[in-house]
Amino acid sequence: MTVLVMGATGKTGVAVVEALSSRGIEVRAASRHPDLSRAGIEQVRMDWSDSSGWESALRDVDGLYLVGPYAEPDNADLIRRLLAAGTGVQRVVHLSIIGAEVLPTGIPVAQWELDIRESGLEWTILRPNWFFQNFEESFVATLRDQGLLELPAADAPISFVDTFDVGEVAATALVEGGHGGRTYTLTGPEAITYAEAVAELGRAASRDLRFTDLAPQEFADRLTAGGAPPWAVEWQEALFELIRTGQNTPVTDTVEAITGRPPRPLSAYADRQAHHWLKPQPELPEAGVDRTIPPSPSQSKLN
Ligand SMILES: NC(=O)c1ccc[n+]([C@@H]2O[C@H](COP(=O)([O-])OP(=O)(O)OC[C@H]3O[C@@H](n4cnc5c(N)ncnc54)[C@H](OP(=O)(O)O)[C@@H]3O)[C@@H](O)[C@H]2O)c1
Repeated sequence: MTVLVMGATGKTGVAVVEALSSRGIEVRAASRHPDLSRAGIEQVRMDWSDSSGWESALRDVDGLYLVGPYAEPDNADLIRRLLAAGTGVQRVVHLSIIGAEVLPTGIPVAQWELDIRESGLEWTILRPNWFFQNFEESFVATLRDQGLLELPAADAPISFVDTFDVGEVAATALVEGGHGGRTYTLTGPEAITYAEAVAELGRAASRDLRFTDLAPQEFADRLTAGGAPPWAVEWQEALFELIRTGQNTPVTDTVEAITGRPPRPLSAYADRQAHHWLKPQPELPEAGVDRTIPPSPSQSKLN
């Protein structure tokens, strides 16, 4: 079996590549900027905004890990067109998002899910909750530099999930049969507030890190002032409206049901990545996602 992993440099893509490779599956890692010098895993160039490379990237591929063109303008029919180009693909696992059915159409996640369900392929749709790994990427600068995170999340609990659990679910669905026609909501082992999550990162970094709730309008104004286009502001507002209304709170047992082991807890993630939230020092490396593969938790221990 050969699997094309889209977004292979991204937060879940790295984990999917690792999980497939460790099962001995032939992986083709797709990126706009493939590291062609990297040995061991085939690298291909693939760009949502340039369909000329799609057919060759998909040639002789039977499984596809599909991360949608969420940052692309005119993205409505791109997934339909991509699937039409992949004539040998039989099984597709699509990274969607929790709340896909109610989110605004600037990023048409519900339509993409529908396109995949109607593709005639054996499909599995993953709807993960917010990733732990956002704390080392999107939110890292203010946490590291100011010790503060401000978001319009109020005190609503969120069942954050580790992308390496998403990766293992995706690999299982791609490699093993029995997951076709299923839509899975993926969460971590517990629901915690942003304030609790940030305090946990602070514990790991031996530092007082704080979360402050932000009024939704202030949040939207800051995004706009920072140059975000209206559709992106609307998208972010909708994501946090879901959080504030408790829709990111439920905990599912799907990760364990599919992988056979419990999802990784935030404490393990925080200990692993604590260097991201240390007080800035001149010799610190650039912030970014650490691609080190974390160990699996023990079967019996959640925290
Ligand atoms: N972040 C979360 O908490 C979260 C939770 C649930 C669902 N999701 C969903 O996960 C998806 C990924 O979001 P993310 O923030 O986690 O990003 P990410 O996967 O960390 O990074 C985005 C990936 O997409 C690739 N990419 C970007 N533009 C591309 C293009 N034009 N053509 C081909 N590849 C492109 C990038 O690769 P190169 O730069 O190497 O090309 C990168 O590997 C989104 O659909 C989001 O809705 C995210």
